Amino acid sequence: MEIRLMKIKDLAAVRALEMELIQEYFGEILENKWEDLPQEWKDNLGASSKRFFLTYVQSGLSFVAVEDDEVLGFIFAQMVHKVYNVENMLWVENMGVHTYFRRMGIGYKLLQACLEEAKKLGAELAHSAIQPDNVPSIMLHKKIGYFIDRREIALLDLKDGKKHRH
Ligand SMILES: CC(C)(COP(=O)(O)OP(=O)(O)OC[C@H]1O[C@@H](n2cnc3c(N)ncnc32)[C@H](O)[C@@H]1OP(=O)(O)O)[C@@H](O)C(=O)NCCC(=O)NCCS
Repeated sequence: MEIRLMKIKDLAAVRALEMELIQEYFGEILENKWEDLPQEWKDNLGASSKRFFLTYVQSGLSFVAVEDDEVLGFIFAQMVHKVYNVENMLWVENMGVHTYFRRMGIGYKLLQACLEEAKKLGAELAHSAIQPDNVPSIMLHKKIGYFIDRREIALLDLKDGKKHRH
């Protein structure tokens, strides 16, 4: 198995895999059936979506795990600046491994490759947002040495005009 930088040619495979994992995730939290959700909404999901894919390929920090030309896993990341009190922070947007190939060390290798490259590019800190019930992801990050506290992220949809009247 090879871990290498993500390329444009990986689009179809990475898109399919990320959507499978997003569907797996939403299958657990949404009452709606996946098929009933609007296609336009689905098209905008994920780092492999039209709006974001190129940014993540060009960051030089996104990787794929490949065997026999098959993409088994991916990690989407980019460098962000002047947040959390540091100049350069590695922002991991999403990562995933095909269900058939989990628990074989692929996620670990993808994250390590990303962290090593980020260090070379001057990153001082790495950030991943993890759902509190995502045990595999929490354990993976702990194994690498991440510090995980009880912080939860507060999000506000600034595009939804109804929600914040003056
Ligand atoms: C999280 C994920 C990427 C891990 O990928 P993976 O290739 O299976 O992980 P690895 O085999 O490299 O595991 C590395 C370590 O993580 C921990 N880990 C991984 N899966 C685990 C599980 N199901 N239960 C407990 N610990 C687990 C273990 O410490 C493991 O080391 P070990 O096998 O020596 O005990 C994978 O489960 C996945 O794609 N999940 C769905 C998408 C997702 O949640 N992405 C993360 C978004 S933040």
